[in-house]
Amino acid sequence: MKPPSTLHTYLLGSVAAMAGLLFGFDTGVISGAQSFIFETFGISGDDVEVSALKGFIVAVVPLGALLGAMGSGLCAQSFGRRRSLMYTALIFLIGTLTAAFAPSIHWIITGRLFMGLAIGISAMIAPMYLSEISPADIRGAIIFLFQLAITIGLLGAFTTNLIFTLWIPDPTLNWRWMFGVGIIPSALLFIGMLQMPYSPRWLILKKRDSEAEATLKTLLGKEDIQLELNEIHESVEREGGRFFELFSRRLFPLLLMAFALFMFQQLSGINAIMYYGPLVFEQAGLGDTGKLIAQMAMGVVNVGMTVIGVWIIDKCGRRPLLFIGFIGMIICLTVLGLLLGNQSQDSENTFFAITSVLCFIGFFAISLGGVPYIIMSEVFPLKVRAHGMAIASCANWAFNMFVSETFDIFRTQIGMGSTFLFYAICTTIGLCVAWRFVPETKNRPLEEIESNLYSGKPLRRLGDAPGNAPTHN
Ligand code: BGC
Repeated sequence: MKPPSTLHTYLLGSVAAMAGLLFGFDTGVISGAQSFIFETFGISGDDVEVSALKGFIVAVVPLGALLGAMGSGLCAQSFGRRRSLMYTALIFLIGTLTAAFAPSIHWIITGRLFMGLAIGISAMIAPMYLSEISPADIRGAIIFLFQLAITIGLLGAFTTNLIFTLWIPDPTLNWRWMFGVGIIPSALLFIGMLQMPYSPRWLILKKRDSEAEATLKTLLGKEDIQLELNEIHESVEREGGRFFELFSRRLFPLLLMAFALFMFQQLSGINAIMYYGPLVFEQAGLGDTGKLIAQMAMGVVNVGMTVIGVWIIDKCGRRPLLFIGFIGMIICLTVLGLLLGNQSQDSENTFFAITSVLCFIGFFAISLGGVPYIIMSEVFPLKVRAHGMAIASCANWAFNMFVSETFDIFRTQIGMGSTFLFYAICTTIGLCVAWRFVPETKNRPLEEIESNLYSGKPLRRLGDAPGNAPTHN
């Protein structure tokens, strides 16, 4: 059998990674649509209740996603990774249509809740599926494609916002079109997933051995796959695998580490910038057109730097990228916080504030953007992978919701500058935690990471070559 080209694996990966488009599109679209929605339904003012309602219209997606993430483990186990991704495309479509045709704010909230549900399920299952269909040497890059799709979705949404703001000036109509464009990513994902294979690891979990064997042969491009099959069977036959095992002494540190990575990803304030970008740029001194252009620039930097991340993740490894990103982000957040706190918005101040936002996005994109998805897909043993990843994803959404719900409140109560300084402090704590606990998993087959875990290696050493004596972290 002819070995599959790396290009073929990247193509397969790109199809499943399209789930990230839904995620990115929705995150980006609300930043442009929200002011028109508020205008259409007469939501105005700066008092705490209005801020909370405005925050909720944004935060209802992370809320739905949190619910979706909670159920995602069960979906991945029962329906399988592939079919679950197809269902999420349909749920997203229902949410999109509901929001686009909404006659009242309640319908927008309902539609966005559905979109959130779909995003929450797919943001856990897509990285899992990608990790299970890719060979170890390019697994980091293939999972990073999911993050790349998120950033493309974001850029697509920023472009959509710009086009419909300029093209349809009617503020009661343009946001409907902005939401409506969401039909495209959901259709792409649904049609794409129809062509994709089942995860061979899920097939073995379901005892569909002959199908698993055939799929693995195609994915690895060789006839002799006995070694790989034996390793997967070993994972499946290992004792345990029940949900509560995640809270055992062996697995709980893993769970905490994956959870913490997502918590710090969100507490870096990335979505304060993604959801409220135009407001941040306004405070930095930009006018109406300047705000939209700056947002587009942000989208381009995000995509560009994520492409670099995809390219170097399997060469540099997860840890170096993570640390470069953390340090860069801390510097940018501190500079931004100090500049936004400064009342005098001269052009020099504006220039440095915009530059720090763009650099922050760049550092995030090569590190905390994709790496948490990669690590969470790699460290959990097969039998509890779905549940472990579901819990880690909950941190993503719970803290996403926290940031989106509180940003407007923080901004009006303590000021935007102090809000970003708060994110800088959280990110510094994140750096220390990651330094101490995150393992380097580059180039290690999933089953070897699992056997390291069961041979008693500490968390930081899970990615070592098997057979090395257990070391302490
Ligand atoms: C995060 C999202 C964020 C996006 C920005 C993702 O990794 O989970 O919350 O909006 O990156 O690129």
